[in-house]
Amino acid sequence: MNYDISRRILTTPLSVNAMAQYRITLLPGDGIGPEIMAVAVRVLKVIGEKFDLTFNFQEAPIGGAAIDATGTPLPDETLEICRNSDAVLLAAIGGYKWDTLPRHLRPETGLLGLRSGLGLFANLRPATILPQLIDASTLKREVVEGVDIMVVRELTGGLYFGEPRGIFTTETGEKRGVNTMTYTESEIDRIGKVAFETAQKRSKRLCSVDKSNVLEVSQLWRDRITQLAKNYPDVELSHLYVDNAAMQLLRNPKQFDTIVTSNLFGDILSDAAAMLTGSIGMLPSASLGATNPGVYEPVHGSAPDIAGQDKANPLAQILSAAMMLRYGLNQSAAADQIEQAVLKVLDQDYRTGDIMSDGKTLIGCQAIGEALIDALK
Ligand code: IPM
Ligand code: MG
Repeated sequence: MNYDISRRILTTPLSVNAMAQYRITLLPGDGIGPEIMAVAVRVLKVIGEKFDLTFNFQEAPIGGAAIDATGTPLPDETLEICRNSDAVLLAAIGGYKWDTLPRHLRPETGLLGLRSGLGLFANLRPATILPQLIDASTLKREVVEGVDIMVVRELTGGLYFGEPRGIFTTETGEKRGVNTMTYTESEIDRIGKVAFETAQKRSKRLCSVDKSNVLEVSQLWRDRITQLAKNYPDVELSHLYVDNAAMQLLRNPKQFDTIVTSNLFGDILSDAAAMLTGSIGMLPSASLGATNPGVYEPVHGSAPDIAGQDKANPLAQILSAAMMLRYGLNQSAAADQIEQAVLKVLDQDYRTGDIMSDGKTLIGCQAIGEALIDALK
């Protein structure tokens, strides 16, 4: 197994690849996806001009849009185009329209197929509270001020992928739903290694979250992570049960730096961590594997209730594009500029509805894009 991923994720490159050309696959998906993607592409084009980077964008269908166009949520061609690109920028998938389809035809199945098809076992979800947005958090200022957490979520194993799974009929004719939470030692070790190395680059505190008081799979998780810790004497390792971790995230989130956890627990805890920052509409993520290109996507969903109304917050998508530049394309300077532009737009008091508070100016998705482009120029 190739563990170089964490180096790729975490090291700031020494030399910047000037005048580079990149093949970027765009997966706009469903709901607000196309709107926020359009803004991200405009921003990337402006940043490309500034930094002499050529982005060759190719768009491919995924999720509900792909079901409508091709009858399947992840067409083979989409996966192939992704494999042959330098990075994949994904918006969001899903919507009411496809909610009642059988599981293999659900938009979510397309997303899970993309993750497993590209071997993206490590999902990095930063939750950082921006000073400009403290008042948008539902928690008290003193609780959230200074929060800076990185959730490292295992993404291709656990309950999401374990076999057997399905809805079966028992001998008495009753239906029985089954999913299986499994982890092998090597699956735990490779995500553990990414997490320890992530913590090393941050404040060297790693909290592993499991349910080892009840689940064997979690006992193995805890044993392996504890074993792995011997290789990282500079990292302070702690363990929490997932129920306690959820409570601690709300009680005193500043106790956390880097969190490592399994697929399902990471899904839940990353939403909770996101909400500390005021809005899930602000949070980007990177999904990385050992060989294939990474997928960069907002943590939030497709928000079908506001789709097509120019109300969506494009900032998580833009910040995902910045993560793509930083971790996928080694273009940290360009990533920095995008992040600075986001802060500038917030300093100008422009807000979408999800991060609106008293005295700020409510604007739409496209207008945030205009403001970002002005800030970049
Ligand atoms: C996420 C989402 C997905 C997940 C869904 C859409 C399948 O909630 O990326 O957190 O559960 O992983
Ligand atoms: Mg989720």
